[in-house]
Amino acid sequence: MLEDEFSDVLKKAQRGTGLSAEALATITGITAAQLRAWSAGKGAPSEDEARAVGAALRMDPGRFADAAAQRWHPEDIAVADVRHHPQAPHPSNGYVFFLDGGEKAALVDPAGVPANLLRILREGKYALQYILITHKHADHCDATADVARAFPQAKIVMHAADVAAIGSLGARALKLSDGDDLPFGQDVRVRMLHTPGHTDGSSSFVFRSTVFTGDTLFAGSVGGAYGDASTYEDILGSVRTKLFALPDDTVIMPGHGPPSKIGWEKAHNPFFAD
Ligand SMILES: [Fe+2]
Repeated sequence: MLEDEFSDVLKKAQRGTGLSAEALATITGITAAQLRAWSAGKGAPSEDEARAVGAALRMDPGRFADAAAQRWHPEDIAVADVRHHPQAPHPSNGYVFFLDGGEKAALVDPAGVPANLLRILREGKYALQYILITHKHADHCDATADVARAFPQAKIVMHAADVAAIGSLGARALKLSDGDDLPFGQDVRVRMLHTPGHTDGSSSFVFRSTVFTGDTLFAGSVGGAYGDASTYEDILGSVRTKLFALPDDTVIMPGHGPPSKIGWEKAHNPFFAD
């Protein structure tokens, strides 16, 4: 199942564009009551209705209609050197990635019940080198102190704009800027992309042909725009200019929902048009 249902996509686009049900009704001729029912998850528009609403919301009309009819889902993807784990009790995704041979590892988003996370991190015979944090929300970083205590040699990495979320640990965090990269083993580098919009400090991390996108880009959707300074236009711009610049076969490992690929999102994500 995709992270966002059609009603979520509709609500995010309405909030982002500032178009109320009444404003959309005026543009599309569909009643505000009907539009409100769809955004509450009751029923779904016809093809023509969905295309009209999608166009009014400055989305790709055909892809928006596909979302309404639940016509697209990414194929299953597994990546050998990346392991996914749920962040219970949160609904978010955590990831550990490895170098060949497994002697070095990095964690993406330390969140959830610390004991679960520490068990996962102690399963392999490796040194945890980095604790990478995609953004400041609790479901992505509320176990930072526990992981940092258990792996004191691991470097905490995040963008300065979100670092207040980890309290006093922020002082020892590596605050990277867009395009900075970190050495990982002999010849691999982990690159940080600053992708603001969901939060001001939202970041994505590129490891080989995988990108961890946090709540910036999901399969078939984007995160909500909750930045203090950054906006809905910023999150769309972050995806267009930073993430869609990656090769099409780059695997997306998002903060919520299933993995996807850059090429698939370019072709199917309703928030973007050709
Ligand atoms: Fe978030």
